[in-house]
Amino acid sequence: MAVDFRGHPMFPSTGFNAPTRFEADVYDCEVWGKVPTDIEGTFYRMQCDFQYRPPQNEWPTGFNGDGHVSRFRIKNGNVNYRSRYVQTQRLQAEREAHRRLYGVYRNHYTDDPSVAKLERSAANTHLYWHGGKLLCLKEDSLPWYVDPHTLETKGIWTFDGRYTATSMSAHPKIDPVTGEMICYGYQAKGDLSNDVAVYTVNKHGVVTNEVWFKTPYVGIMHDMALTQNYILIPLIARTTSEARLKSGEPMWEWNGNLPTMVAVLPRNGAAKDVRWFKGPARNTLHFLNATDHPDGTITMELPTSSGERDPSQLRRWTFNMKSKKDTFDEEVVSVANGVLARMDDRYLSLPYQYAYIGNRDPNQPFDKARAGNMGGFVTNQYLRVDVATGKTAAYFVGPVQSLQESCFVPRKGSKGEGDGYLLGIASNYETLSSDLVIVDAQRLEEGAIATVKLPFRLRSGTHTNWFDADELPPVTA
Ligand SMILES: [Fe+2]
Repeated sequence: MAVDFRGHPMFPSTGFNAPTRFEADVYDCEVWGKVPTDIEGTFYRMQCDFQYRPPQNEWPTGFNGDGHVSRFRIKNGNVNYRSRYVQTQRLQAEREAHRRLYGVYRNHYTDDPSVAKLERSAANTHLYWHGGKLLCLKEDSLPWYVDPHTLETKGIWTFDGRYTATSMSAHPKIDPVTGEMICYGYQAKGDLSNDVAVYTVNKHGVVTNEVWFKTPYVGIMHDMALTQNYILIPLIARTTSEARLKSGEPMWEWNGNLPTMVAVLPRNGAAKDVRWFKGPARNTLHFLNATDHPDGTITMELPTSSGERDPSQLRRWTFNMKSKKDTFDEEVVSVANGVLARMDDRYLSLPYQYAYIGNRDPNQPFDKARAGNMGGFVTNQYLRVDVATGKTAAYFVGPVQSLQESCFVPRKGSKGEGDGYLLGIASNYETLSSDLVIVDAQRLEEGAIATVKLPFRLRSGTHTNWFDADELPPVTA
């Protein structure tokens, strides 16, 4: 059966979000401007791509596409680009069959029976370098790992058999003080189970603690937050059921009648120590940071909206660990309308000042004549938001572009929070090509200091990460 994407409602043959379906190497990328020489390391970026045409009712997010890793290796102002698919069991099975074998998002009832016994990860959401492995994560499955330089797929990683849950979230957190990775799986005993497993992994990649607990309902638990003393895992009112899966629909549906529930677990605690805090239904997936305070409270900042379709705002949730109160308080930090917030990860779990958020400012120009009718959907700014005052600074990308998730990159040798750069992919709807833009994080208004040009298009990506050269193994390829 030949591949043909024509007529697919979300993943058509043409346009910016058409599947890209290729791997590439570009040595010494063209650069407009100057890449600072105090950037040295690798910017990784994940894309959900579709090698084969998904069902018509696929979840429009695209989160069921095949994991496609881009790496931009930067040294002495030069940039080498490479992209490779993660060679998962599902991708290999589909290539062998020359067609899509997996159905809609996280619904095994819609899969071809031939894949029932295969590991189903698309390895398509996020990447973390930890314990000597570059983990490619997808929250319904175990991690895959790839070589950090060649991107050659190495296999599935179970932490030497110590990770016994069936899935690992794509959003672990790495403690910058201890080097530990805190990670978790939900639906951790298989689809629809209300089990959560939380792991502490030391900086060498060895599991040192494992805690299992149950959730009050089966909802999405996409991300977590970490303080020096606590692990916070919110349960969001996007739910599922056996009946929904049997109906052939993608896994999730919004259920605004349910509360948001947040599990708060002491670091290295046990299941009996889990406390649940309740709040109103909130539509959110990603969390910025959390911090302990001397008065016994924990604060956590996150982009969220009150209902499924409401604009997102950066808000703060406060949990009082000294009180018996089982609800959390909420306040608005900034009305920045972006759902992806990043920070200087050297300050993760610690007191901090800055959030970096992709934002759509409707007052900025969008050139429909050149770029088509995408104006209402673009992310045209990166904002730096002071989480104490709400004060913002903005970088505007231009009238025919949209920005994907940014990543903060510390200036080589720097220590102070925010002393570095924002890196992110800009989609150019006029030229149907993609750029890596580099902005000074302390001078956003001055615009990009370098634009790394790719001679092709990368469709919408999911998440990005940066690792300094001295964190990664020596370059051999
Ligand atoms: Fe995510």
